[in-house]
Amino acid sequence: MRILFFQSFLLLFLGVAVHLTKAQDAPNNTAIEALSRIKGLDLEANPALKGAVLKVLATTRGTPQFVEIVRDFNLTDQGTGLLECVLKNSTNSSGPDAMRLLASQGQSNLITTALQGSNAAPILTVLGNTGEKRFVPWLTPFIKNSNRDLALRQAALSALARTPEGAQFLIDLARADQLSADLRFIAMTELNNVRWPALKAAAAQVLPLPQSQDSQPLPPIAELIQQTGDSTRGSKIFRRPEVGCSNCHQIESEGIDFGPRLSEIGTKLGKDALYQSILDPSAGISFGYEAWQIELNSGDEAFGIIVSETAEVIALKTQNGIVTQYKKTDIRTRQKMSASIMPTGLQLTMSPKDLVDLIEYLTTLKKKS
Ligand code: HEC
Repeated sequence: MRILFFQSFLLLFLGVAVHLTKAQDAPNNTAIEALSRIKGLDLEANPALKGAVLKVLATTRGTPQFVEIVRDFNLTDQGTGLLECVLKNSTNSSGPDAMRLLASQGQSNLITTALQGSNAAPILTVLGNTGEKRFVPWLTPFIKNSNRDLALRQAALSALARTPEGAQFLIDLARADQLSADLRFIAMTELNNVRWPALKAAAAQVLPLPQSQDSQPLPPIAELIQQTGDSTRGSKIFRRPEVGCSNCHQIESEGIDFGPRLSEIGTKLGKDALYQSILDPSAGISFGYEAWQIELNSGDEAFGIIVSETAEVIALKTQNGIVTQYKKTDIRTRQKMSASIMPTGLQLTMSPKDLVDLIEYLTTLKKKS
């Protein structure tokens, strides 16, 4: 009886809140807040309530709230709206969440159809950001089909390198000499950065990194420190895709926010420490940036930096800078890694002169007084 009363009150309240909003307006926060208090209620048993929820939902199209409402009320007829959320949220955790919902609701056909069309690029990014092996079969056709756009095939390749199964697929293809020439270079750099040592070693065998033109061994750090580099050139090296620093570090607001910001690194670290942080990343791991490996009950794994934790959930920031909430009940094990997330061997993607220039550039990034 109390519940019934509460429901009618809520319905009235939602009715008013919705009345004040039109579908094309910004999401109505009061109404959304009200909904979050009744999540899990069976809407099918209460058509009027469902009508009110759908009205609020319409005001949230394409936003993270849309994904939350669909999940909270287990709405199984919102596939098109979820797909829209995938497309509009490829750089935050709502895109992957919408993708998981579509897949678990058996609406995968919407995604596989969209992958044929002009929206394939953001979908591939989101697929990679889920880090889940169940999506590998959607990605592999892009690698084999040389009629698709090269940018899409490269995006599919990057997404594959995010799971051990996908990385293994690429290595097997390269070993069988079936990886097309236009994908070899990106495969090489992506696989050089994977965190699974056995796969990284196997990749180095079948897709060795090109030796730099002057492929002498690197001089000792003491000698490198004496050299003065070209910082303007170094700034370009920092941003080179195959070197990949800006995939994990921000300078000012450019780059992905994953590892520590480097805007003032020249004030914090001297040249010797800068060399060490690249040549031997695990020697001194910055506080708060320790790597955690989480195994999920689903068999997937997640890897990243724990940014917050409550009794129920762990928020993990993964390499793309996206923070994902994992329910502790979905987690089988978690383990703190002793190695840095920053990959070893980054100096192999550049010549010794490139490295000297890069370090010179980093020393110029000083705190503004
Ligand atoms: C896969 C992500 C990743 C890539 C790629 C990467 N880093 Fe890092 N880096 C990190 C993380 C995470 C840390 C913090 C953990 C640690 O100290 O090892 C870090 C730490 C550092 C530090 C020390 C920061 C401090 O405040 O003490 C420097 C300097 C640095 N990286 C420079 C670079 C440069 C230069 C490149 C490109 C050659 C690069 N990183 C590529 C993830 C990355």
